[in-house]
Amino acid sequence: MEVFADARAVAAAAAEAVVESANRAVDRSGQFVVALSGGNTPRGLYERLAAPGFAERIPWDAVHVFWGDERCVPPFDPQSDYAMAKEALLDHVPLAEGHIHRIRGEDDPELVALEYERLLRRTFVAMTGPPPTVPGARFDLALLGLGPDGHTASLFPETAAVKEVERWVVPVQAPVAPYRRVSLTPPVLNASARTIFMVTGAEKAPALAAVFEGPHDPSACPAQAIDGAEWFVDAEAASLLSG
Ligand code: 6PG
Repeated sequence: MEVFADARAVAAAAAEAVVESANRAVDRSGQFVVALSGGNTPRGLYERLAAPGFAERIPWDAVHVFWGDERCVPPFDPQSDYAMAKEALLDHVPLAEGHIHRIRGEDDPELVALEYERLLRRTFVAMTGPPPTVPGARFDLALLGLGPDGHTASLFPETAAVKEVERWVVPVQAPVAPYRRVSLTPPVLNASARTIFMVTGAEKAPALAAVFEGPHDPSACPAQAIDGAEWFVDAEAASLLSG
């Protein structure tokens, strides 16, 4: 875990990590396959990645953008994770439309989940079986956030999605609006080459303390279902940690 002074410093560190991961992946396998996080926290990161002087450091022609989850709303809805990333990042960088793989929140969640899993399986050349863990056949980077209840992506406490071991993408009934969502599951997220959580703000301090210092219970605290992640947090979010 790295603790930074504030959200701005978290975004700056995460942006450097994205640049590093992108260039390493492209050098190794000719592409960079990233899963974006939704919510508000990553906006600062996306805006920094799009900023002149920074955007040039990423080989956008080799980047493929996916999402870790999506709300079941139209793509222009302010609640859409795609809409936020489009406004903060995608509209400002030379990323081909065919490299932007949004989750179709406007369609039936079950069909969308099945189609998105098929897309991921084609991308990772694994039409059956568990997610591969070899370079070029998994996410090079998965970005995640942490909800106040310990959820990540749209893996909410005490839901079947947290315990899913077969499917890579599932429809979800969330306890907070928007209630219908589509989420990647722990198996495909845990197969990522690199996973980074970004957590900022005092309102996340109890959840962060629960992740690291509470009982190990991924069903109650779904972020604990994600293995081997790096945590970029600010001082406010870390304020209840004893260590
Ligand atoms: C979403 C995200 C979700 C988010 C957390 C934190 O679609 O909302 O995937 O997991 O990362 O809820 O959200 P904030 O960054 O807005 O606090």
